[in-house]
Amino acid sequence: MIQRPRGTRDFLPDEMERRRHFEGILRSTARTFGFREVATPMFEESELFVLRSGPNVLKELYNFRDKGDREIALRPEMTAPVVRMFVNGMSNDPKPIKVFYFGQCFRYERPQSGRYREFFQFGAEIIGNAGAATDAEAIALAASMIKALGLKDYRIRIGHIGVLRQRLADAGVPADRTAEVLQKLDKKLYDEARPLMEGMGVAQVDIDDVFALTETVGDVSVLERVPGSAGDYLRELISLLDVMGVRDVEVDLGVVRGLDYYTGMVFEAEAPALGAEKQICGGGSYTLSELFGGEKVFSTGFAIGFDRILLAMEKEGIGYGNEGIDAYVIPVTDDVRPQASGIAASLRAAGVSTDMDIMGRKMQKALKYASGAGARTAVIVGAKELEKGCVVLRDMSTGEQREVPVSDVVSAFI
Ligand code: HAM
Repeated sequence: MIQRPRGTRDFLPDEMERRRHFEGILRSTARTFGFREVATPMFEESELFVLRSGPNVLKELYNFRDKGDREIALRPEMTAPVVRMFVNGMSNDPKPIKVFYFGQCFRYERPQSGRYREFFQFGAEIIGNAGAATDAEAIALAASMIKALGLKDYRIRIGHIGVLRQRLADAGVPADRTAEVLQKLDKKLYDEARPLMEGMGVAQVDIDDVFALTETVGDVSVLERVPGSAGDYLRELISLLDVMGVRDVEVDLGVVRGLDYYTGMVFEAEAPALGAEKQICGGGSYTLSELFGGEKVFSTGFAIGFDRILLAMEKEGIGYGNEGIDAYVIPVTDDVRPQASGIAASLRAAGVSTDMDIMGRKMQKALKYASGAGARTAVIVGAKELEKGCVVLRDMSTGEQREVPVSDVVSAFI
């Protein structure tokens, strides 16, 4: 038997209905914030990701040479593709450009619960502006999406990668090796970060100071410990969020992010119930467009790990029942099948979700199947009733039956 590739999943109908339902909630929340949907290809030239995604994403890149000898990669994320799309076709549009996207991404990771090789992101980008108002808009949307899905136990942590980058530069970390250090700090691998920085000639006091900076966590008051103007910036951002009703945020200068393109504010949301793979959302401000041949524009965005947030919701018992169908048409005998098919067709044409017995099952078995399919009403088409121009409607939850003229069947459903 052929198995699906490691780290991928199939979604059966119940799961798919649940996913579509919650995806719909995310879409409509994004629209209430004035974002519009876009889509980009699932594969791109590898270079798009090689340029700036950083060592974490690169070692996980699913790439290959195609038949035309092009170096191609399945997208590991969608920010770089969206910025490429902006440079290719939207750079003259009025700013800011507010777009959202939903789709699968691919990373060659070691699969485990909440970590897949094919996973789905729901993300949003605001391209063409920098500032606290832009960052607040992105974080407020992320927070509203998480709330709209009904998740209760989560934390949003806001940091500033610019502060850390500056501190590393002041400590003597060469610019082209900052990503290596950030990668260790992102994973809180201090034991590995220390010798790495020592090897770059960074003094112990500076290393200790960098580590202390990444441990700056708490409410707005900890911003007093943040050097430069970044403290004021984050204070302004947090007070804007407060006015927007987003109050459940913490300051955490240890938010480093696994991707390399962030320049200023960075944020993450986590659902503690998920354990190791608890990060359900990540984002921040960045510039990428100049790398892809466009002018330099500032942007802010984020992506929600759709699979992970669904896992967190499941743990909180946020379910979604089978949608079922409105009608299940049962021809009692084979000779009335044409009439039954006609009734099913007119129900479908009126937008009533309708299935029909095509197995020639006996009544009891057909009713059992209808109930399993979540049908709310059975339309029983029998020769005796047809002679009177009628069919029988059976309420599947109460078992109550009533005769209805064929001409009234559709109106009985709408
Ligand atoms: P990211 O943090 O790499 O950011 O990914 C966003 C989210 O995708 C993560 O928080 C996580 O929930 C989910 N995720 C990542 N890898 C996996 C995986 N292997 N399996 C399941 N879920 C996963 C980005 O990708 C940025 N493009 C976000 C962004 C948008 N920044 C600015 N704009």
